[in-house]
Amino acid sequence: MTTIKSTQSLTSKDNLILIGTAKSDFSKHGLTKTESDFVSKQIKAEEHTININQYERRILIYIAEDKKNENLTLEAFRKAGNRACGVFNAAKAEQATLVDLIGNSAQTLAFAEGMALGNYQFIQLKKDAKKLTHSLKTILIHSKKVTAKEIENLQIVVDATEKARTLVNKPLNYLNAVQLAQEFEKLGKEAGFKVEVFNKAKITALKMGGLLAVNMGSIDPPTFTVMEYKPKNAVNKKPYMLVGKGVVYDTGGLSIKPTAGMADMKCDMAGSAAVGCTMYAIAKAKLPVHVIGLVPATDNRPGGNAYTNGDILTMFDGSTVEMLNADAEGRLILADALSYGKKYNPELAIDLATLTGAAAAAIGKYGIVAMGTADKKQFDALKQSGENVNERLVEFPMWEEYGDLLKTEIADMKNIGGPYAGAITAGKFLEKFTSYPWIHLDIAGPAFIDSAWDYKTKGGTGCGVRLLFDFLSNVKK
Ligand code: BES
Ligand code: MN
Ligand code: ZN
Repeated sequence: MTTIKSTQSLTSKDNLILIGTAKSDFSKHGLTKTESDFVSKQIKAEEHTININQYERRILIYIAEDKKNENLTLEAFRKAGNRACGVFNAAKAEQATLVDLIGNSAQTLAFAEGMALGNYQFIQLKKDAKKLTHSLKTILIHSKKVTAKEIENLQIVVDATEKARTLVNKPLNYLNAVQLAQEFEKLGKEAGFKVEVFNKAKITALKMGGLLAVNMGSIDPPTFTVMEYKPKNAVNKKPYMLVGKGVVYDTGGLSIKPTAGMADMKCDMAGSAAVGCTMYAIAKAKLPVHVIGLVPATDNRPGGNAYTNGDILTMFDGSTVEMLNADAEGRLILADALSYGKKYNPELAIDLATLTGAAAAAIGKYGIVAMGTADKKQFDALKQSGENVNERLVEFPMWEEYGDLLKTEIADMKNIGGPYAGAITAGKFLEKFTSYPWIHLDIAGPAFIDSAWDYKTKGGTGCGVRLLFDFLSNVKK
């Protein structure tokens, strides 16, 4: 965890990052004449990142890149922040001061964000964790524009994103469904929101047939977590509802996955991590919004009494589903959560799920596949947040005809469509269990990456947390 704080002071010993323009006067920030001349030369050559090694300390200069729009410029700041993080860690520096010479709080904060997120490590399960820990601990911000509240919120959203990454990075033998629910309880206690965990008996009594069916092959029980953050000053009458896929491990069940594709499937609870950690962030930041979070959780295994292909399941809402592929399990547990959520009559429901390989195949790690029944205004607001934080949404169609692919003669629906449009048929399946404005986010592409990519570290990315925090920050009366 990297601490982000503001500072008034600047000394000749501080590691510095000077954020300026080509016209800024960098010379008065402790550069020698030779260094200043070098900087000028680099700027003329249109370099945006200039590193000066004064041995006792580093001075980094970053000049805003003029991208197509402000959000892309901000993303360049985050990436530059991540590169700076690498420089300071290589130099074994513990602290660096970000000096805002342009008076732009969004850009300064974006730089700090990229720096802090790039500094994340998941090494707690290594014997030599201490030795391997990055040196960089503190980012100080020196700016006339950045406010204390902005720094506090940045710290919160960075921490929440990192907590989500860690939940995703923990393998099944450290995080089963019961342990996942306990993690949500901890988050609730720390940040101040309500958490109730339904155990297997309660889930059975509620007849959550989708969740119970997926759990049949496991000896670990399922959980269903209900989270609620309801501040007195909430601006919304009807709650926002977040639903996260909590498949703590997906073997594919009896439709078992090949070894190569299975190894990463500890990431199949990334949607639930995004939901729990967003609840954490909004409660910590005391956002004035009433939000419900729902997480159905289980592993998907081929053991014991595993649900078998051909089974006809009775779901929480009473409808029946012919299960023709045990690897299409996410939609079954989400369906129960979505229909359970009807009782909250939400203003808008957003589900997040590593739901289909098809979504990842369509757009890769570069964005989130979105679809749903929410109105244009709601979609536009979420898309805008996606641009703001660079977790961008691509809307897929939900044409009625796709629903035909889920028809079967012997039950109300089957759990797979045809060979094409797999991300959409999964969405159409979920749609049947909603009765309120709803957006489905398939994060199978961006939730988990096989190597570090700018400020996103290898493994869990924490995808969804920054998006939802931005979205919920912008909810108006
Ligand atoms: N968890 C997987 C989807 C997934 C794939 C997530 C790659 C992250 C990366 C999901 O449960 C799944 O197995 N989906 C199947 C659906 C199919 C059987 C209809 C898929 O995408 O192949
Ligand atoms: Mn699956
Ligand atoms: Zn899955």
